[in-house]
Amino acid sequence: MTTPPRNPALKHPVVHGNSIMVYSDKANKFVNVPKIWLRDNCQCSSCVHEVTKQRLLDTFRISHSLFIKSCIEDDHGIQVSWSDGHESYYTNEFLAKSALKNKGVVRQGLTKVSLWSNSIKHNPPVVDYGAVMKSDEGLKEWLSKIRKYGFCYVDGTPATPQDTQKLLERISFIRNTHYGAFYDFTSDLSSKDTAYTSIALDAHTDTTYFSDPAGLQAFHIISHTDGSGGASLLVDGFQAALDLSRHYPEAYDLLSTVNVHSHASGNDGISIQPYRAFPVLLHDPNTHHLVQVRWNSSDRAAVDMPLEEVQRWYDAAEKWSNLLRAPESEYWCQLMPGRVLVFDNWRVLHGRSAFTGKRRVCGGYINRDDYISKFKMLYLGQEEVLKSLAVA
Ligand SMILES: [Fe+2]
Ligand SMILES: [Zn+2]
Repeated sequence: MTTPPRNPALKHPVVHGNSIMVYSDKANKFVNVPKIWLRDNCQCSSCVHEVTKQRLLDTFRISHSLFIKSCIEDDHGIQVSWSDGHESYYTNEFLAKSALKNKGVVRQGLTKVSLWSNSIKHNPPVVDYGAVMKSDEGLKEWLSKIRKYGFCYVDGTPATPQDTQKLLERISFIRNTHYGAFYDFTSDLSSKDTAYTSIALDAHTDTTYFSDPAGLQAFHIISHTDGSGGASLLVDGFQAALDLSRHYPEAYDLLSTVNVHSHASGNDGISIQPYRAFPVLLHDPNTHHLVQVRWNSSDRAAVDMPLEEVQRWYDAAEKWSNLLRAPESEYWCQLMPGRVLVFDNWRVLHGRSAFTGKRRVCGGYINRDDYISKFKMLYLGQEEVLKSLAVA
């Protein structure tokens, strides 16, 4: 569930008459590359725009009678001469990778994940604000820790909304929602959501009412005066899911397959609901990896099951809820000015205890795709990412 599959060793493509054979790990043998795929994936500058990397070729106007006149191997790849005079060159690496079921390692920026319990309080992942702001190396370290642990603190951040926003924008632009983009609020119910009150909040993920929930979420407590409380709670949803699958496999199965509706309807004139219902535990249909935890009992609407069967979902959800609330799952921390918390909202659940007094908090959301894109570019590099575009 958590360790990405390793790429099998790349096997050299071979020329066979006027066709190219590549090794397919799915078929477990060398297979013929269809000529339409070869022509469609020509990487020359008249077929792919050098700057935008977009396809310029009109694939579906290619003549059916097009054929390969010759294939010539050199040390790095294969030169193909087409019957219409076009010349294509494919590197061995590109051809070899294209035939592999890579299972999203590059595409999804998969990396080794460390699951955690509340003992992470002794050594939580932290980076320094100055390092993140100064160089891409610092930014890479920050994103790598978020990718690995599902959260990371940034210490030494100036306690202002402006500096916090600039920090988040190192990753990407802030996502706009019906609450606004970058937020800076006190507990005054200015937006009609319990997040804007001072009451305790159970561990949950945010924005289950969007088809594409926020990827990252950030909190920075700018000030807390005339009161106390308001500790922050983090729970590793992937660890809890693993526990659930071990102890209650049927419950895991149910929460992975039964879809649940969700809504945000507190603000005037708004009732946001995803285009479809999603399960609590969402898996990649290709890799079967758990990719997203969607758990927000406050925003939950209908469970998409016949009413007479719905008891089974409640039984499974109670087991899940109990695991999330187990003392060993709950990592409590007291945030303070200067320490920004950023976490992966697709994995780590958050909550807080009740507080008194006046608390000013700022933060924002970043889209999942934008966050993973930045991570991949820094961690793997643009060349590696683009090379894998034709990998399934
Ligand atoms: Fe929240
Ligand atoms: Zn071309």
